[in-house]
This record gives sequence, structure tokens and C-alpha cells, in this order.
Amino acid sequence: MSFARLELRHAHGVTPVWIGAAVLDEVRSELDEIICGRRLFAITSRPLMTLHGGALERLGREASDCSVLEVPDGEQAKTVENAAELWSRLLVAGGKRDSLVVAFGGGSIGDLAGFVAGCFLRGIDVIQVPTTLLAQVDAAIGGKTAVNRPQAKNSVGVFHQPLAVVSDTRFLATLKPRQLRSGLFEVIKTGAILDVGLLDLLEATYEDVLAADPVALAPVVERTAAAKIRVVEEDPEEQDRRRLLNFGHTLGHALEMTAGNLEHGEAVGYGMLFAIDLALERGFSALEAERIRGLVRRLGLPLLPEDLNLQDVQGHLMRDKKARESGISWVLPTAPGRAGIFDDVSLDDVEARIASFVAAAC
Ligand SMILES: NC(=O)c1ccc[n+]([C@@H]2O[C@H](COP(=O)([O-])OP(=O)(O)OC[C@H]3O[C@@H](n4cnc5c(N)ncnc54)[C@H](O)[C@@H]3O)[C@@H](O)[C@H]2O)c1
Ligand SMILES: [Zn+2]
Repeated sequence: MSFARLELRHAHGVTPVWIGAAVLDEVRSELDEIICGRRLFAITSRPLMTLHGGALERLGREASDCSVLEVPDGEQAKTVENAAELWSRLLVAGGKRDSLVVAFGGGSIGDLAGFVAGCFLRGIDVIQVPTTLLAQVDAAIGGKTAVNRPQAKNSVGVFHQPLAVVSDTRFLATLKPRQLRSGLFEVIKTGAILDVGLLDLLEATYEDVLAADPVALAPVVERTAAAKIRVVEEDPEEQDRRRLLNFGHTLGHALEMTAGNLEHGEAVGYGMLFAIDLALERGFSALEAERIRGLVRRLGLPLLPEDLNLQDVQGHLMRDKKARESGISWVLPTAPGRAGIFDDVSLDDVEARIASFVAAAC
């Protein structure tokens, strides 16, 4: 078996990102060296312990002491209350500046655990061990952490780069098929705007990838993570280039909030299809457009609800003040593996298009 070692360079050093179909065993000695003799706090959830607790326990063996702290599963984990509870538990257990947090789970646990580590004693080390495809290709990379407030998702957080990211694709074999596919929409997104070779790779290995084969998934995770790393290195605090990663997310977010039956990735899938129509009118190649559409369609998209309220969809699109004042910026593909940010799409045009787009998807 072999694994990939990518590196993310940032203001505080270099984060290794290890990826492979058995990487957790293969980087054992590197991990032991980091963990050896330190107080380790593993943040995870009950379902993950049931499925993959053995791997987490092996990870903690070199620690001077290892506590497994379970938090509610999924998005429910990302609350200020859960963060506060964890800080108290760290203090009671004698957590110190050299203690180490391990985030063991999907993007929700990664975001919460990263936030907890980023604030505890003004910042202690965290190792991200992402267990979903979305977390391996996206959430665990880049140092963004956050919890939600009732008013807005991801509204409270800090940038806190992990000490290391370990993405073992064996974990992905237990994902629900819909969840794996949801992550694959983000992979297609990355290929479309940043790395056309990733689309070639997907086309060549789609069947095995869709069957969650860890060996087929490893290079897909590697290429997608590598593209994200390049963008984050160029734009660590999301000023400009990192905005490209929002391809498919403009309409995607609005649909995710209003349709009620879509996974995040599925909403992005719809968002990409919509954006591709806009791109075609701005010179994007019809052949390339069809290729992206084909990859999206093979993943399958649930129909939108017939009673979807178009006003709500538009309301979400126009939510932020900037959008209301100067229109919406769209990330659109311009050439294979390239994209740009466009401000020339009129709001009337968008409104008319959404109506027919949604009608076709019900
Ligand atoms: N920080 C970032 O840059 C960033 C980027 C993208 C998304 N996110 C965040 O990531 C979150 C979504 O993450 P997600 O899609 O990974 O979902 P998730 O973390 O909410 O997990 C979803 C479900 O998958 C289960 N699960 C996790 N690993 C599993 C495995 N190996 N086998 C079977 N089940 C498993 C979990 O128990 C949970 O029920 C959102 O909160 C989003 O805001 C953050
Ligand atoms: Zn996304």
C-alpha cells in the first residue's frame, strides 16, 4: 500500500495531509511521535465509536492519557453549548497548553473540535482525522472552524490550522451511499474549476468510486485535497481566490435552505447545473459543459419538491446586503479546470431562469 503526503504551508508552519487506503497504519510512527507522552482528547460521536472506535483507540495508545469525549452526532454537534461543555471537561481533566485534541468524525465534528482546540488556552494543537468524503476533501483542510447560532450557520469560529490531517479512505466504506455521493458533488466541483485531470480520473474509476472502494477513492481524495490546498495557500483567509470554491454554492445554498429534501452536495449539484447554463452564454465550451453535467447526473439528484417557494429561493439568494446592493457574484467555469467570478448576471435574468430551472427539476 502507498499513501500520499501533501503539505499545506501557512503562517504558522506546515501541516502534513496524509491520504491513503490504510494510511492510519502507515503513518503510525509519525503519529506516535506527535502523540507520545501528551494528554490526548479525542472528540467524536457515538455512531463513529461504534463503527470505527478501534482505530481511535489504537491512535491513543502512545498518549500519556487518552479521553474519548462524545458529542451529539452530525450538525447537532456544532453549538456553543457543546464547545463550552468540552472546555470544562478539558479543564477538569487537567488539559494544558501541550495537550492535543483529535477530531474524529465528519465535517461537523471537525468544525467543533477545531473550534474547541483553537480557543482553549488561546489555542492548542488539533489533529484532524476526517471520516466522511466531504471532510477529507474539504472541511478538514484549510483551518476554518465554526459553530452555529440559531440566526446563522458557521457564524462563530476561528482560523486554526491543524497539526496534521490524516485521511484514511477505509472509513468511507461505511458511509451511507447518499452521503458518499453528496461528497462526490464537491469533488466534481473542484475538478470543474481547478483540475480537469480530476474529472478524467473520476470518469475512469467512477464505478469503483461509487462502490466506496478505498483504493479507488484514495487518488480522488488526494487530487481534490491537493487542489483545495493550493487555493488555501494562495488565499488563507478567504479574501479572493478561495471564493472560487463557491462554484455551485450560490443557488446551491438557497436550494439547500428552502427545498428541505437535499443533502448539501446535492444542492451544490443543482447549483452547478444552473451555473453551467450561465457559463455557456459566456463562452464556456458545450462539450465541457456536457461532461460536467454527465458526471453530476450519474450521481443522481432527488426531484425538487413541487411546492418549492420560488420567492423563498430568491430571498435566500439576496440575503446578504452586498447582494441586494450590487447584485450577486457567480463563480462560473470558463475553460476546462478554470473558473472566474462574474458580476454581470442581472437579477431579472436570474429570477426568470430560476423559475424555469426549478420547474424542470420538479
Ligand atoms: N471547515 C470547513 O472548511 C468546512 C467545509 C465544508 C463543510 N464544513 C462543515 O462540515 C459539516 C458537514 O460535514 P459532513 O458532510 O462530513 O457531515 P457530518 O459531520 O455532519 O456527518 C454526517 C453523518 O455521517 C456520519 N459519519 C461520519 N463518518 C462516517 C463513516 N465513516 N461511516 C458512516 N457514517 C459516518 C456521522 O455520524 C453523521 O451522522 C457542516 O457542518 C459544514 O458546515 C466545513
Ligand atoms: Zn460545499
